[in-house]
Amino acid sequence: MNKRFEDKVVIITGAGSGLGRATALQLAQEGARLALVDLNRASLDESKAVILQKSPEAEVLVVTADVSDVQAVQQYVKETVAAYGKIDGFFNNAGIEGKQNPTAEYGIDEFQKVVGINLNGVFYGMKYVLEVMKKQGFGAIVNTASVGGIRGVGNQTGYAASKHGVVGLTRNSGVEYGQYGISIKAIAPGAIMTPMVEASLKQIGGDQWEAAGQQFVSVNPMKRFGKPEEVAHLVAFLLSDEAAFINAVVIPIDGGQSYKY
Ligand SMILES: NC(=O)c1ccc[n+]([C@@H]2O[C@H](COP(=O)([O-])OP(=O)(O)OC[C@H]3O[C@@H](n4cnc5c(N)ncnc54)[C@H](O)[C@@H]3O)[C@@H](O)[C@H]2O)c1
Repeated sequence: MNKRFEDKVVIITGAGSGLGRATALQLAQEGARLALVDLNRASLDESKAVILQKSPEAEVLVVTADVSDVQAVQQYVKETVAAYGKIDGFFNNAGIEGKQNPTAEYGIDEFQKVVGINLNGVFYGMKYVLEVMKKQGFGAIVNTASVGGIRGVGNQTGYAASKHGVVGLTRNSGVEYGQYGISIKAIAPGAIMTPMVEASLKQIGGDQWEAAGQQFVSVNPMKRFGKPEEVAHLVAFLLSDEAAFINAVVIPIDGGQSYKY
């Protein structure tokens, strides 16, 4: 196993499930010292247990926090620096899909909730992590956008607004902070089979959600869902020194779906 993260400190939000957990596992195997953040304590503890099973020597700090709460964000950054003294990498990933509805029927509270987590939460994370990284003079940030952040998908008003916002933050901040030795990039995953996608398919297909899933991926050039581990490999590369000159860009990982006519 490549050990690109030996002695490197990485914060991962949304680390209790899906893409966050898969990335935590990958980075731990490569030697990273981790700070795992999630709203859900039980799932965080489970992520830690799974990591320690595979990488018994891993250092894993868990912090329960709501990324839409500014003070909670300041707190997870502070706890990470107190424990490890620096931040090399930040996977700014926690997010929710929200209810699926066309715009006129989209709830105002729902919109605010989705934007509060997916966009404000990503901004707060960048704001306080960048303070630390600027002082250090190094660091890499990967924000989780989505195909819904670079294309119109439909029925995803809050999600689309928030993820397009994440793309904007990434480009803007990447341009600002490159001069300090910091790179900032976003990933735009297509449909990756995680608990979030499973829940979304259940909203569409009810008991028939697996059939709904098959139909959903039938239009993907690769005719399948992506795997969380495939995203973890991309994020690990983007956070590593190998990708230090990749900055202010959005990288799709979607089997080619977003470029299909
Ligand atoms: N799975 C996909 O197909 C897909 C596609 C594109 C983008 N994404 C994005 O990837 C990210 C991760 O999604 P996933 O599929 O792993 O979902 P998931 O639901 O499996 O995991 C998300 C994690 O984030 C946590 N979380 C939710 N709200 C939070 C909050 N306010 N504060 C802290 N933690 C919170 C949840 O508890 C959960 O553990 C999200 O930003 C999502 O929008 C996923």
